[in-house]
Amino acid sequence: MKVALKMKMLTLLGLFLACSTIGMNRASAQTVWLDQLDLSNATQGSGMPMKNKTVDRRVLTIAGKTYERGFGTHSVSSLLILLEGKATSFTAQVGIDDEVIGRNPAAEFVVMGDNKKLWSSGVMRSNDTARTCSVSLVGVKKLELLVNDGGNGNYYDHVDWVNAKFETTGETSLKTYNPISSDKYILTPPAAATPRINTAKVFGVRPGSPFQFLVATTGDRPMKFTAKGLPKGLKIDSKTGVITGKIAKAGTYIVSLGAKNAKGKAEKTLRIVCGDQIALTPPMGWNSWNCFANEVSADKVKRAADAMVKSGLINHGWTYINIDDFWENHRDSKDETLRGKLRDEAGYIIPNSRFVDMKPLADYVHNLGLKIGLYSSPGPWTCGGCAGSYGYEKQDAESYAKWGFDYLKYDWCSYGNVINGLKDNDPYKVSSLSYNGGGELNTAMKPFKVMGELLRSQPRDIVFSVCQYGMSDVWKWGGSVNGNCWRTTNDINDTWVSVKNIALDQEKSAPYAKPGNWNDPDMLVVGTVGWGNPHPSRLKPDEQYLHISLWSLFSAPLLIGCDMEKLDEFTLNLLTNDEVIEINQDPLGKEATCVHTIGDLRIYVKELEDGSKAVGFCNFGIELVNMSYNEFAKLGITGQNTVRDLWRQKDIKSMDTANDQLDIEVPAHGVLLYKFIPKK
Ligand code: GLA
Repeated sequence: MKVALKMKMLTLLGLFLACSTIGMNRASAQTVWLDQLDLSNATQGSGMPMKNKTVDRRVLTIAGKTYERGFGTHSVSSLLILLEGKATSFTAQVGIDDEVIGRNPAAEFVVMGDNKKLWSSGVMRSNDTARTCSVSLVGVKKLELLVNDGGNGNYYDHVDWVNAKFETTGETSLKTYNPISSDKYILTPPAAATPRINTAKVFGVRPGSPFQFLVATTGDRPMKFTAKGLPKGLKIDSKTGVITGKIAKAGTYIVSLGAKNAKGKAEKTLRIVCGDQIALTPPMGWNSWNCFANEVSADKVKRAADAMVKSGLINHGWTYINIDDFWENHRDSKDETLRGKLRDEAGYIIPNSRFVDMKPLADYVHNLGLKIGLYSSPGPWTCGGCAGSYGYEKQDAESYAKWGFDYLKYDWCSYGNVINGLKDNDPYKVSSLSYNGGGELNTAMKPFKVMGELLRSQPRDIVFSVCQYGMSDVWKWGGSVNGNCWRTTNDINDTWVSVKNIALDQEKSAPYAKPGNWNDPDMLVVGTVGWGNPHPSRLKPDEQYLHISLWSLFSAPLLIGCDMEKLDEFTLNLLTNDEVIEINQDPLGKEATCVHTIGDLRIYVKELEDGSKAVGFCNFGIELVNMSYNEFAKLGITGQNTVRDLWRQKDIKSMDTANDQLDIEVPAHGVLLYKFIPKK
């Protein structure tokens, strides 16, 4: 009886347990929607990751059908999700959002599980009906939802994952993650109180042009400046360190610069080359676009110039204060401050009401020891729809010189309309036209040739920045139209995708860089940027170190694109490292190329004038690189060398590069920037 009772109880217990397990199973097969996860960990080509909205914050819509739930993003987009085997399947519909119809977007959606491709949509375009994605995730630990560009660049690739959800085994704690560290660490040592002359070692000027050159120097003030061996016609202001005047005769002049304060003194040799070529080192300064875009004004420009001085950046060689688009009147803006007569009766351009008088503005900037730049387009309209130079090139070049400008960015924009005789003034429809080969090449060169010659004939030196996004292999002919630098790519933005793609695209133009002729991978995206919608750069700290290191290795023009009044300690650390800047400003003017690749580690080498080499160990991958490196022959480095860490400004090793190894640890998306100095 006792035994029978026990048996009955055990059976009941068994039944109870069985039922509760079934109950648990039922409860456990839970659905987790993608929009319930933290989408802010996504990286994407433009804009911000959006929950239940498009990247432009509209209702998710694919081929006319609207969706309530989903993830609106922009290619190239990557969202990493830690599954740890907790999910059994993922389903979604994907497509290009209708908000970009007519813009020619193309993208491919891919699902990666533990680095293996589980599903791909194939290339999708506007108006394609949503494609259904359904993948089994049994056993998958890490998932990546990826959207690649569809082969025509990622312009306007606004893409949606809609009705996207996971079935899970009961665990609902799926987490997105971003493998790149957010730790902001400072590497640049503070400038010493003793003088250090940071100015470039060479400066070019044309005979008879007004000369202005600041001996950029860090150290306590007051400081006394001297310059021995100045050619006839030049003098130095001993208090400010600004050299002014005019040189009548072409020639090379070796000048001995001196700077002295209560703590000590410094000397440096400057080579002044008076001849045909200017911009003998890449221009360094600031440009209004990445920060203010269409909201620029004379007041903002003055404040940027003041901040250049107040922040001390001026003492590290930062020189140009460049006004981008929107100083001109607009063709049809609703903003009254941009409306007015475009030109006077003689065809001379009239600045908009935010600028009014350009000459006093240029004087203001010059009086601070800085230089000033301006912007126009060879077409009738600039990219922003303001008055361009087409038909008035002569008057414009004269105005720039008369006002005292030192730099012109000349931006293709609506010039395609001129070629095609189009009435339609939408610049984006034509800005990506490519002109490769024969007769068409002349068409591509023509407007820059016209302005280049006009600038050359002005009575002052005006750096000519050619901007046509790298069409027609501009690096091969930019110098022949008097260009001092030329954009090699489309517009940059403050995303890893943008910086990475631009960086990887520089190899073909690299051999063409030389003093006076620079490849321009576009402006810097550190600090508070945002094209009128200011926010801290979305690049992670290591990505910012990599960005500045690469642009230095590339001998790129360095144009800060941020709000100069909001410079934080981290950004200042990026922009005030004189040993890093020295790599950019090296007088030999070579551009680094990637000479050795190990997985995601790309090793860039730049030859320097003194026979040493700058080497960037650049980690484009998402894992830390930790290794012993010994293939120096591949980098063209031989013999006994001192290895100097430029960001930390410290010698780290003396080594025999044929036999010794160098231990390197490069953070994900980060860099080590070293100089290999051969022992004599
Ligand atoms: C283009 C250029 C940008 C900026 C804008 C201004 O997009 O590439 O750098 O000058 O035009 O409208």
